[in-house]
Amino acid sequence: MYEFTIDTAAPKHELYRELVRSADALTAGEPDAVANMANVAALLWEYLPDVNWTGFYRVVDGDPSTGSGQELVLGPFQGKAACIRIALGEGVCGTAAASGETQLVKDVHAFPGHIACDANSASELVVPVKHDGKVIAVIDLDSPSLMRFDADDAAGIEQLALILAGRI
Ligand code: SME
Repeated sequence: MYEFTIDTAAPKHELYRELVRSADALTAGEPDAVANMANVAALLWEYLPDVNWTGFYRVVDGDPSTGSGQELVLGPFQGKAACIRIALGEGVCGTAAASGETQLVKDVHAFPGHIACDANSASELVVPVKHDGKVIAVIDLDSPSLMRFDADDAAGIEQLALILAGRI
């Protein structure tokens, strides 16, 4: 059993410091990528207030026999069942994966090509996870509130992405 003491009244940078510490402890020494993503999706869900989806999309090679290239495929998550495959460059997740840049979207309805997996989502944060310079996955957070995420959230999730790089 894993129990975490979460002080939701703490300043954001402290909340993220604790979240990253917990994620580090849970994933250190565990080689199974699915187990690590599943536990981190659960931690994000437990630690972060006002979110309706937390999880991963993984960059997966296409079928060489059909010549299809890489795409994003749904990974472990918490929240409602979601879109399974997203083309690189499409939606918020595909944009983060293709550009290698964090996407901080204050209003998803104003993001051209946003893919609505849950009609309740109003804002979104997507952070690429890179290993050896290549994007291997993205961490996706959705909120039912407009402007839920800011630069502190982006910095916290980027820290998380750094420690996960060799573990998922
Ligand atoms: N909104 C995302 C799709 C994934 S869901 O939010 C879980 C996007 O536009 O890529």
